[in-house]
Amino acid sequence: MLTPIAIAADHGGFELKQALIEALDARGYQTHDFGTKTNDPVDYPDYIRDVCRAVSKSWHGILICGTGIGMSIAANRFHGIRAALCHDTETARLSRQHNNANVLCLGGRVLTAEQAIEIVTVWLTTEFSGEERHQRRLDKIE
Ligand code: RB5
Repeated sequence: MLTPIAIAADHGGFELKQALIEALDARGYQTHDFGTKTNDPVDYPDYIRDVCRAVSKSWHGILICGTGIGMSIAANRFHGIRAALCHDTETARLSRQHNNANVLCLGGRVLTAEQAIEIVTVWLTTEFSGEERHQRRLDKIE
């Protein structure tokens, strides 16, 4: 069974969130939308908690704001969260293999929907390498 995905965005990521939910649902993923539900301006820190709680149950998390920067800064304040801001498939792949990232942050104003779908696909299908040196570094963070 595919790992459920908790997803949220502010107004800067709203359109991309909708496009990703459609694409992911079409691929058989179970997405849970934690807002925002419109283009009206909101504060991105208000949309992080539910996603981080879901990730602590071993779900995947995706957070989107205009640049992805605010979401990644805020999500990394939560214990156990390893949020990675990725702008391409290579950083997405490495964020899983090396950093065991459990939240993917994206910029709705810097990526096309096509680019984002590609990034998300790589991120969701790449496993943590489990190599000792990477685990050791993650243990140091914890
Ligand atoms: C909102 O205008 C914008 O600042 C926000 O989406 C995000 O890019 C912050 O990092």
